[in-house]
Amino acid sequence: MDVTALKARLDSIGQASVLRFVDRLDEQAKTAFLAQLESLDVRLLADLVSAYVRQKPHVSLPTDIRPVDAYPREADAKRNELYVRALARGHALLKAGKVGAFLVAGGQGTRLGYDGPKGEYPVTPIRKHPLFRVFAEQLLAHSRRAGKSIPWYIMTSDANDARTRAFFEQHHFFGYPKSDVFFFQQGMMPAFDAKTGQMLLAEKGSLALSPDGHGGSLRAIDRSGALADMQKRGIEHLSYFQVDNPIVHTIDPLFIGLHDLSGSEMSSKTIGKAGPLEKVGNFCIGDGVLQVIEYSDLPEELARKTHADGRLMFDAGSIAIHALRVDFIARLNAGGQLKLPWHRADKKVPFVDDAGNAVKPEANNAVKLEQFVFDAIPLASNAIVYTTAREEEFSPVKNADEAGKVVSDSPTTCARDQVRRAARWLETVGVRVPRKPDGEPDCLIEIGPRYAASLADLRERAPQMTINPGDQVVLDID
Ligand code: UTP
Repeated sequence: MDVTALKARLDSIGQASVLRFVDRLDEQAKTAFLAQLESLDVRLLADLVSAYVRQKPHVSLPTDIRPVDAYPREADAKRNELYVRALARGHALLKAGKVGAFLVAGGQGTRLGYDGPKGEYPVTPIRKHPLFRVFAEQLLAHSRRAGKSIPWYIMTSDANDARTRAFFEQHHFFGYPKSDVFFFQQGMMPAFDAKTGQMLLAEKGSLALSPDGHGGSLRAIDRSGALADMQKRGIEHLSYFQVDNPIVHTIDPLFIGLHDLSGSEMSSKTIGKAGPLEKVGNFCIGDGVLQVIEYSDLPEELARKTHADGRLMFDAGSIAIHALRVDFIARLNAGGQLKLPWHRADKKVPFVDDAGNAVKPEANNAVKLEQFVFDAIPLASNAIVYTTAREEEFSPVKNADEAGKVVSDSPTTCARDQVRRAARWLETVGVRVPRKPDGEPDCLIEIGPRYAASLADLRERAPQMTINPGDQVVLDID
């Protein structure tokens, strides 16, 4: 498309001002810019600007909000037989090659401030293995146990795709079969000037773009051909996890089995909240439908509501661990439009002003739009929620450490939680772990996922060892 045609197209939605410097670009820059602009879905942009940018969208909450009845972590008397069947079912699905792993790693990781894909971040407490390696080794352990490969779908974004692929190459895919790793890129969304609704330029010949949210994964998986690859391989379920949480169970046979047996199209794990106002989404039944209500939207009086024994009523926090049916994702994409809502975020976005100057704003100047994966839950049939334990499965690296204070969800708290979990697992299988007067392990322990990806694996290893105060203990297979 030439400049005139593109200008007419952008004019039709009042966005042609992004072309104001196009005559000053050299041929190469111009071609790249025109390609970027041509790929925009202008009708969608026009709708989004009027619904989310020119006004703050009204969040309409369900009128009837109730707590969710989540499956407990361990079977109770009435579910004993179900959990036994579910565990067997999960293992059978893995053995039959019907489970894929789905990692979303397209985020910008601005809070951590690491210069590169977050998956490169050195996260383990002793050897400082990167997040990608931790996941690769876990998945290898599960596929060895199942005797079947687990195809691994990794979503990147335009900003980190090349570097992510190079990192995997450089590390020989951490031992993972290369033919079972499928990278694909998520979509990008322009940032808009909060006052005028105009798309912002990052450079004279480039839009200010950012990834379209983890919900965009459900669109990109289809458009990239990843979904077709899954269908070709006969994969029925995906185990979805995020790049920032090294203690996630990337594959959990019991969870997959419960998801499959209950006929759920999308299942989720939950943990008890750290307090009524913890900044995590809340699983609720809203007007009869399972959904996540964001912490900022759940009315405080509900968030603080307790049962007679003092337990929080709305205690089911969302930790972004899901199981999804592949045919559900196909259904969501039918007709070419992923049916998820958008969310507005007000942000500071550097831009090029009308005079061509680069501006670094001090305050929020822009609106970014993202889709969230949990918004697919209300669209799923028979969706279930299963309870896990925070200390077992959730310690993300979100924020940078700061000298002199403990920052939550930081590299330091994550390393601490990895050691705590390793210590607990070892004690459960009979190894004595020295502890400080405050109860913290008086040692560092790192358990490589190929040695034990779960407590059940560690039980089978039955380690016999002595740990002395101050020791650094690494358990791995080589
Ligand atoms: P976060 O919501 O924590 O965002 O992502 P982030 O971009 O990583 O970090 P900040 O907010 O800029 O500090 C949770 C998970 O969702 C993925 C991230 O890579 C992470 O695994 N994600 C997020 C995407 O894959 N794409 C996105 O557009 C956003």
